[in-house]
Amino acid sequence: MQALQDKKILLGISGGIASYKSAILARRLIDAGAEVRVVMTTGAQAFITPLTFQALTGNPVHTELLDTAAEAAMGHIELARWADIIVIAPASANLIARLSHGFADDLLTTLVLASDAPLLLAPAMNRLMWSNAATQENTRTLIARGVTLLGPDEGAQACGETGAGRMLEPEDIRDLVVQFANNEMLSQVAIPVEADNHVPGTPSDTPANQQPTGVKTALRNSLAGLHIVITAGPTVEPIDPVRFITNRSSGKMGFALADAAHRKQAKVTLIAGPVTLETPTGVTRIDVDTAKAMHTAALKAVEGADVFISVAAVADYRVENVAEEKIKKNDDNMTLTLVRNPDILASISALPDRPFCVGFAAETQHVEKYARGKLKKKNLDIIAANQVGQSDNPVFGSDTNSLDVYWPADGHRRIASATKKQVAAELLDIIAERLANR
Ligand code: C5P
Repeated sequence: MQALQDKKILLGISGGIASYKSAILARRLIDAGAEVRVVMTTGAQAFITPLTFQALTGNPVHTELLDTAAEAAMGHIELARWADIIVIAPASANLIARLSHGFADDLLTTLVLASDAPLLLAPAMNRLMWSNAATQENTRTLIARGVTLLGPDEGAQACGETGAGRMLEPEDIRDLVVQFANNEMLSQVAIPVEADNHVPGTPSDTPANQQPTGVKTALRNSLAGLHIVITAGPTVEPIDPVRFITNRSSGKMGFALADAAHRKQAKVTLIAGPVTLETPTGVTRIDVDTAKAMHTAALKAVEGADVFISVAAVADYRVENVAEEKIKKNDDNMTLTLVRNPDILASISALPDRPFCVGFAAETQHVEKYARGKLKKKNLDIIAANQVGQSDNPVFGSDTNSLDVYWPADGHRRIASATKKQVAAELLDIIAERLANR
């Protein structure tokens, strides 16, 4: 099977001299098995004609938003739904700025807004335009929203200068799209930039000092390259060799977060209690049973980690004396003495070199009050709360969820009811934003 067999790729082309390489990219994507449709901005058409891409892809090229004939053939919403992946190469400074501000003033930006397909950007511009604080901030905003950056490369530029901002070669972009489509990590595309942090109004030869610059800065503020440790599922606390105490946690939310974090290019360690879920691609899984075992595994895994997300429904108590043999039912009553388990999250947030800590709180009432109480008591950066125990919102075992996310001092965002996969992606966006603001 070809690497991009049956993948529908919308190739967006914005205005820049690198757009001549996009013709080769279209060809390489098709060679890898993809179906490619091309959307060009007005600027792109000044450099290369739509006819070139029509001939290469065998599909009409889309250029206009407000064109009745084009809308009748394949409307922009239809096109947005059609795409499995949107790749924009080259992505100019102007396009990156428009995307980061949510503009929908031409066909390409409108399609990006109207599509939930993953967006991959291959920036291409002059080195000073790339290292300019405005472009860097716009890029960081997009990355924090889950956009994947391919490059840019550094080297000789069409304008005669040398530095970071060159578009990656078509074959490199094709390889990264293949990796992305196969859920593989793309964080190696980060390229450190030894560039000026050129702020408008300052001389362009401002030395590269005070602030870190370039792609690395942008990536550091996203999840790319971060190590995220997640606990998920229930714990089981033995009573004797055949009996145990546990809870209703299915592990689905934690596994959805692990999957979404991997898709956002983080390195993910998932510490899972006993659940019947498949390990998400690219995620390192450690299986545990008891709260004590989860505690030991979590303390080890968070060494040097950037984020800890405690989704597991950890049993608060364990049986003090676990019977070595099966307990016989001799008496009408029996008493088990339970002792407190360690609070894994609280002990990790108390570490001197602690990661960014995210907790979950399932409450049956007074959700905000109790959740904020835990946020403070456990010294957390974020707490994600939901109301449980309602017949119309079972949460445990369900494929959907909704969350109220709180952070100090009065931060709050509601994630409306959606699949746990979608909720996980939104929660990670909030985590990336809070990390960037820290
Ligand atoms: O105190 P409560 O159990 O409601 O707190 C919930 C949060 O604390 C969750 O993030 C859960 O994973 C974590 N927790 C823990 N260890 C425990 C109890 C809860 O890590 N023993």
